[in-house]
Amino acid sequence: MEVTLSVIKADTGGYVGHTEVHPEMMEAARSRAADAVDSGLLRDAHVSRVGDDLALIMTHERSEEDEQVHGFAWDVFQATTEIAQRLGMYGAGQDLLSDAFSGNLRGMGPGYAEMTFRERPSEPVIVFLADKTEPGAFNYPMSRVFADPYTSAGLVIDSKMHAGFEFEVLDLKMDQSVRLSTPEELYDLLMFVGAPHRFVIRRIFSKTLEDIAAVSSTQRLSLIAGRYVGKDDPVLVVRCQSGMPAVGEVLEPFAFPHLVGGWMRGSHFGPLMPTSFEDATPSRFDGPPRIVALGFQVKDGQLNGPRDLFADKSFDRAREIALDTADYMRRMGPFEPHRAGLDELEYTTMPDLMKQLQGRWTPEGAGDQ
Ligand code: F6R
Ligand code: MG
Ligand code: MG
Repeated sequence: MEVTLSVIKADTGGYVGHTEVHPEMMEAARSRAADAVDSGLLRDAHVSRVGDDLALIMTHERSEEDEQVHGFAWDVFQATTEIAQRLGMYGAGQDLLSDAFSGNLRGMGPGYAEMTFRERPSEPVIVFLADKTEPGAFNYPMSRVFADPYTSAGLVIDSKMHAGFEFEVLDLKMDQSVRLSTPEELYDLLMFVGAPHRFVIRRIFSKTLEDIAAVSSTQRLSLIAGRYVGKDDPVLVVRCQSGMPAVGEVLEPFAFPHLVGGWMRGSHFGPLMPTSFEDATPSRFDGPPRIVALGFQVKDGQLNGPRDLFADKSFDRAREIALDTADYMRRMGPFEPHRAGLDELEYTTMPDLMKQLQGRWTPEGAGDQ
């Protein structure tokens, strides 16, 4: 069957500060999701979270950007916002930028990644949810999974992967996108996606299967491109096996906790730490940035899972490296490159300071004779 997998997420209030989602909010979302499955709107649904972001993972036959599916997600986020307000959660409703729903969630605040595909006889899918970072954070691991033969053995020895993959890259500044085919255009791809604050991998396609392989959440970013963008805690969906990368190939790059933007006040760089669901509670300096991986076997739209893929012991060392890296980066305090560059700061006192110190700056060369 042809099925659409929609992952829609929003921060509708943090428990405590920006560290988690209150259990009552999770429960409300779960009970509404169960109702939506009973009513036939959804084939299946799973409610999850990472840090302060609540995620709805849904299958249905209504395709992407569907008014009813998006409207359902909007209603859930309204309901969790009301609970957040009643319990005094921090930043209640913070990702709901509009008062009223009008057709779909584009530009409304919540992030979403959606893909439609014909189910293969067995359909393993991984849903990644990340907090305290930005969609460009997936550029490094996804270019390794789908274009680096040292990461994915299948690129070398699986005839269904050997032709490579095509990447759709979004340019946030110019508000345009391009498709690049690897391995032929790999170096071109890396020139762009190595700058993840400006260029974001949006979708990846298998050249052999002529089918979608991965999709990340970038809608809000593309909408507001041209001014400040980039600090939306992102989600990513990846199909695995049988001509797509193996589950273990998709997880492999996360064994290296690469540096990402979005830590404390959206204004610091730190390591992306893979954790179990239980440990997805960014607390130290509001971090370090976290990522969880939910594995599902999708059958007739049924989400069999999730398996908590980063709970595995083989990611223990990645967590240790992440914690060592966090120590190292924190010692830089307010200095770049731990602190983000001036044009990437989500918080800044610079304009005020410049105003305050007006008249105290001496032009260089003024005292020279
Ligand atoms: C939230 C985040 C946090 C906040 C920080 C300050 O995603 O990254 O680090 O930016 O806790 O929050 P305020 O300014 O609301 O006190
Ligand atoms: Mg938050
Ligand atoms: Mg968040």
